[in-house]
This record gives sequence, structure tokens and C-alpha cells, in this order.
Amino acid sequence: MAQPESTSTRDTRAASPLDVTAIRREFPILDVRIGNKPLIYLDNAATTHKPQAVIDAVQRFYMLQNANIHRGVHYLSQQATDAYEQARIRIGQFFNAPSSDEIIFVRGTTEGINLVAHSWGSKNLREGDEILITEMEHHANIVPWQLVAERTGAVLRVAPITDDGELDLDAFRARLSDKTRLVAVAHVSNALGTVNPVREIVAAARAAGALVLLDGAQSAPHMPVDLQKLDCDFFVCSGHKMYGPTGIGILWGRMELLEAMPPYEGGGDMIEWVTFEKTTFKAPPTRFEAGTPHIAGAIGLGAAVDFLERVGRPALAAHEEAITAYAVEQLGRVEGLSIVGRPRHRAGAISFVLEGVHPHDIGTILDSEGVAIRAGHHCAQPLMRRLGLNATARASFGLYNKREEVDALVAALDKVRAMFG
Ligand code: ALA
Repeated sequence: MAQPESTSTRDTRAASPLDVTAIRREFPILDVRIGNKPLIYLDNAATTHKPQAVIDAVQRFYMLQNANIHRGVHYLSQQATDAYEQARIRIGQFFNAPSSDEIIFVRGTTEGINLVAHSWGSKNLREGDEILITEMEHHANIVPWQLVAERTGAVLRVAPITDDGELDLDAFRARLSDKTRLVAVAHVSNALGTVNPVREIVAAARAAGALVLLDGAQSAPHMPVDLQKLDCDFFVCSGHKMYGPTGIGILWGRMELLEAMPPYEGGGDMIEWVTFEKTTFKAPPTRFEAGTPHIAGAIGLGAAVDFLERVGRPALAAHEEAITAYAVEQLGRVEGLSIVGRPRHRAGAISFVLEGVHPHDIGTILDSEGVAIRAGHHCAQPLMRRLGLNATARASFGLYNKREEVDALVAALDKVRAMFG
């Protein structure tokens, strides 16, 4: 039987710092029923639901402001441009970026990492240079580096994790050298929920003269992210995992790095001057936003960060920490269930396996109870191999989840166990 996390001494029954009932009313989808059961949505690491404020902002754009940006002299184009650029400013403030010009709108975390790998990587990596990642990375923070390594002759190195699912910091430090150009690490593991020790990672990378890219897909939704305090060089995250629309996310990079990086894609809006012989490019962020961007998405993401500011990230983080600790405790009572990974600091996600039951069967049976979780390799096949597993079931939490939903998850798991006898 799984044991509660030894480091968790909190009273998991303490009152929530959030008014979860009021927050839930802002999410229309939470009223959807799955068959005759209420929806218990515990797949927030895959995507979060959208509050009415985000839905309204996207709808308002298409109903009242729709036009292409940056190029038009007409009224609507100026309105749309203002709304898009205002969103950039608010998102920059939300992450405490030194300048909102360092915020580049991309499709999401995956595109943000690919942009850095292609643009920064192609220009700066040489044969024998090293990129250091960890065993717990999502495929989006592995494959782009493999591709750029193949093109440039750079070498991809991997820092191991411990059996508890934490980064092995000593082994990580031992893999840094004067050949390391970039460290690319998940701020929070999507599969295990491990919160990585960013301060130590950044300090060690700096001492070795390497840059640091943080994959913030699973941290931005769960905790205050202050880019100036994190002191990394690049940060990427996805809007749809932080209550914003799909198809939009951000790449933040230090301006001096962005200024020295070549374009990722060519096209309209990112140029200063084009002739058939030569093209000159605008400064960041426009240099990296070729073509018509996801204008409504950026505006929706602006509304999402406003929503998160209104809720308050410290309160959100405290609420989710309590729910997650409660879930670890309650899952620990399910016979035959093992929690995968015992990180001292966890955010958002809990992976588990149930003796004798394939994770996909768990997911399917839970679905018939209205409980939405994820089952599979979580786009982290090397991590699964390291753990000796093909797949896990994963429950992941958002700011609208409540203790009763953890109880419903546990009750549904008891039914799974009963079915598999
Ligand atoms: N990367 C997303 C997840 O972890 C899809 O579920």
C-alpha cells in the first residue's frame, strides 16, 4: 500500500484559503454531467477549463474588435492591435518580466522550446557542445534538443533522477562542464508533479557558464512565477494549462539573447525591409511572430492572467497544495495502489499504479464514474522506462478542485479494485 509523503506534516483538513464554491461558479463546464454523474475533472495537467472571463474576452474580440493587427490604419485594426499589445504587457507584468518586449507569443510550450532550439541553438551550438536535460523531461523538452544536436554536432546529456522522482542534484552538477551551453529543465514534472530546485539548478548552470531554459508548462498554473527571481534565461509556458485558450503560450527570453537570435520563421510583420536580394528584420518580439498570430488567444491569455491575479496566486498555491496533500493521503489508503514518485515538493499532479490493473482500464472505469484522469506515458517515455513502467494513471489538480472530488476519485478506485477482484 502507498504511504503518505513523509515530508507532508500539514493538516490536510485545514480550511481552504480560496472560496472554491464561488470560483467554481465562474467555470460553466463544471456543470456538465457525464452520463448521470457530475463531472470530476482531474486532468488539469493536460488542460485546464476556462473561466467565463476568458470565454467573454475571446467572444468580445470576435464580436466587437476582430481585425488583423499591426498593419491596418482603420479603427478596428487599431483596437485589435491595442488589445493584443495590452495582453502582452499584462502577461509581462504577471511574470515580472523586465520588459514586455521580451514576451513572445507562440502556440504553446512546445513551440517555445522549438523556437529556442532552432534559433538560439542553430546559431550558438557547435560540435561537442553540450545541452543538459533531465530524466523527467516531457518529450517537448527532449526532441527539439535532439534535432538541433543532430544538425550541429552538439551532444545531449541527461541528468538522472532519484527513485523518489527528484532530480539527483549531485549527478546534475557532475554533468555540467565548460562544454555545457544550455540546461533545459522542467520547472515542474508533468508526470510526477516534482517541483525542481530551480535556484540550485540556475546557480550551478551559471557557475558552469551555461544558459538555463525552464519549461514552465506545469509551474505557471500552480505557483507565482517571478522571472527576475528565477533568474533563468528562457521560460516557456502554455496558455491552455493556465485557464487560457488553446493554441497560445509564451516564450520569455532575456532581451540581449533575443536580440542576437535569428528569426525562427519568416513571413509578414517580422520584417523591416524586403528585397529579393536581402531582408532585414524587426527587433524582438515582432521578429519571432511571423504571420497573423493567434490574436484572440493572446487576448484570452491576458484575461486568464487577470483572472489568476484576481484569485491570487499565493492563495491558489496554498489551496492546491492542501488538495494534493489530501489526495496523497487518501490515495495511500487504497489497497494495492502505489504512488509513483515521492518528491518533497509537489505541485499539481500525482501519478499512480494499481496492482493488477492497466492504467488505461483505470482511466476508462473512472470515466464511467464521471472522473476524468489521464493514463499513459504522459509524453515522458524515457521517464517511464527509468521507472520500469509503461504507463501510469495520473490525477492532476486545479484551483477549482475540492476535497469531495478527491473522495469521489478514491470511491471510484475502490470500484475499480472490486471489478478486478
Ligand atoms: N503535456 C500534457 C500532459 O502532461 C498534455 O498531459
